[in-house]
Amino acid sequence: HQLLPRDLRDAIRTIPDYPKPGVMFRDITTLLGDAGAFRRAVDELVHPYAGGKADKVAGIEARGFILGGAVAHQLSAGFVPIRKKGKLPHKTVRVSYLLEYGEDEIEMHADALVKGERVILVDDLIATGGTALAAVKLLRQIGAEVIAACFVIDLPELRGADKLRDAGLEVRTLMSFEGH
Ligand code: PRP
Ligand code: MG
Repeated sequence: HQLLPRDLRDAIRTIPDYPKPGVMFRDITTLLGDAGAFRRAVDELVHPYAGGKADKVAGIEARGFILGGAVAHQLSAGFVPIRKKGKLPHKTVRVSYLLEYGEDEIEMHADALVKGERVILVDDLIATGGTALAAVKLLRQIGAEVIAACFVIDLPELRGADKLRDAGLEVRTLMSFEGH
């Protein structure tokens, strides 16, 4: 999965020392703004799942909404938003997860998926995996079958993709960056 030509990688902008000193921020807005790169990224993410393999795509607020919405449309699947707490109006399921400092909560409508539906989780980037693991917990809690978790960017040093694989998930990433 790391065999893409260089140009898709080159569509990511790296901003050193953002949001704090020592962090290399991998900015996807340049990829999103490049029509060819955006299409390529979505096509590459979805191609193993074409042909009705997924019922729904779940995207994680906020950056996962942009890619997840495009992926869902491409697969003719429904879209399920996984949101930061307090934004969804109907009955929700909620899970808390650890951030680098402190913790946060994400939630999803309890009726967003029915038991046994096959779902693909989508986000822009996997770092520690805390966010994605929390999302998988929510999806499994309501009986969804998570068939894959897909990300444009992997930061392998932070081991998030390994953690997801340990949790029995198929993980698909388009590129990885060392140094964070
Ligand atoms: C970023 C990124 C992933 C998450 C990855 O989102 O978009 O969702 O962090 O980190 P992790 O693997 O260590 O959990 P962020 O929470 O910064 O918010 P945003 O998408 O709303 O910008
Ligand atoms: Mg995010």
